[in-house]
Amino acid sequence: MHFFSVVAAAATLIAGSNALFIPRNIHVADFRLYGGEDCFAGNLGVWTVIDDDFKNGECKSLNDEEDGAVPHSLNLTDINNGCTLTAYTDLKCTEGTTVLAPQQCSKNTVGYQAWSMTCDYKE
Ligand SMILES: *[C@@H]1O[C@H](CO)[C@@H](O)[C@H](O)[C@H]1NC(C)=O
Repeated sequence: MHFFSVVAAAATLIAGSNALFIPRNIHVADFRLYGGEDCFAGNLGVWTVIDDDFKNGECKSLNDEEDGAVPHSLNLTDINNGCTLTAYTDLKCTEGTTVLAPQQCSKNTVGYQAWSMTCDYKE
């Protein structure tokens, strides 16, 4: 994996800019989390998703807040073209399925527990 990255990086340097080349660790999306349901109260910070963080559709927990705060609203501040971010109200990504729309406040009384991401350039 590391060897491949080095080779890929070297190939990019040699080939120059190539729009079809997908580098690792690229920034994919940011979303803000709030304890309140209005995307204002109880700001819990920004969650940044990079390409290495997920496989398409993989269920990821949102519960790494040290104080155990459950986010009740999310604002997807930016997301790459071709990617879709979905939030869920359970840890198995089966309940409260909410596709996040950019710059919108997605809220849920129960609170969000997990997320998944799908990008059409990934397998
Ligand atoms: C979402 O966040 C953006 C960037 O901080 C802000 O401009 C926008 O007003 C927010 N939208 C909502 C619905 O809170």
